[in-house]
Amino acid sequence: MHPPTPVNRSERAYDSDAAVRQTDSDAALARLSAVRKGYLNDRFISSLVPRAQLQPLRPPLINIGTYVRSGAIDRLVEQWLELSKSEGQLCQIISLGAGSDTRFWRLMEGPWKEQLGAYFELDFPDVTLKKAMTVRNPRNGLSAALGASELDLGGQALHSSRYHLLPCDLRKPPADIFPGLFKDHLSPALPTLLLFECVLVYMSPEASSALIEWFVDFFSPSIQISTPGTLGGMVYEMFGLEDAFGQVMMNNLRARNVSLPGAKPYPSLESLPARFLSRGFTSAKALTLRNIRSSYIGPSELERISRLEMLDEVEELNLVLEHYAITWSVMVSSSAATVSPWNEWGLRPVEHRPD
Ligand SMILES: C[S@@+](CC[C@H](N)C(=O)[O-])C[C@H]1O[C@@H](n2cnc3c(N)ncnc32)[C@H](O)[C@@H]1O
Repeated sequence: MHPPTPVNRSERAYDSDAAVRQTDSDAALARLSAVRKGYLNDRFISSLVPRAQLQPLRPPLINIGTYVRSGAIDRLVEQWLELSKSEGQLCQIISLGAGSDTRFWRLMEGPWKEQLGAYFELDFPDVTLKKAMTVRNPRNGLSAALGASELDLGGQALHSSRYHLLPCDLRKPPADIFPGLFKDHLSPALPTLLLFECVLVYMSPEASSALIEWFVDFFSPSIQISTPGTLGGMVYEMFGLEDAFGQVMMNNLRARNVSLPGAKPYPSLESLPARFLSRGFTSAKALTLRNIRSSYIGPSELERISRLEMLDEVEELNLVLEHYAITWSVMVSSSAATVSPWNEWGLRPVEHRPD
């Protein structure tokens, strides 16, 4: 229900921002459901969802989508860490619009934790304030991975030696907010991966381009740093919303006061890499979740998840998965562009052996 008199512009802007923040609950509930049904392992997500044990499960179609995207992004992140190790460097990961994501905690339990120089999570102040409180609450078991930590900016920011939770509105000019926010915690010399997991679609194309351009500048050679770290980017979101399916999705979201201005420039899968390539990245590729499910997941894993629950609506599943894509892109210095090991970064199809 909307308030009866949403009259002035700033109130309306507040309403739509609240609705966008609310999308984090949807993402976290979907993850929780996929974990409870056995699709994913994540012992941290229940601490980030209020009254987790009372939350309803999601339909199989949503669980499968969550599984496919989550597994593919995990692989890209692990590969980034692995490449950093083979290059003898620590790396940085920046999750923009991180919401209730648990990736930092999952990485800290895994084999690559020593490769992680710094992990940043950015989101609206309301979201980071709640997350900082949850992380610091000793009952939730999240603070141990941080070691010593301290709150900043009235509890909206949290810093530890590796983990930084930072409040901001990503639509603001990055040059105005990022230098004060990252301070000297972000190094231009380390390989750095930007994760945009379902966030740019809520922003204007101009605002998301400005974000990417700020990072491209920061990781370009300068007087201070002649060989900056390699920059990688990963975007997961919906695209191709001009068809009937897309229109239904947009109308449903509009009814919740959410709009998707960031989807407009991306009518097709082929249009997605341009987001990075037109801003200085040297290679990029995009795949739909349908592509990933059919050719990028091993047969034994597909068999395992097919046994978790009955799926009646295969056509509907394919239709949904065709409207979500993962794009990954890398920016290596022009002298190293053809030989750089970072060009190997990306999802690889599963080899189907002949019977
Ligand atoms: C759909 S949720 C995704 C959360 C998480 N990345 C995931 O995939 O589970 C979108 C997140 O982006 C954040 N977000 C959207 N627009 C933002 C903006 N302009 N500034 C900061 N955060 C924003 C929302 O608050 C929300 O936490």
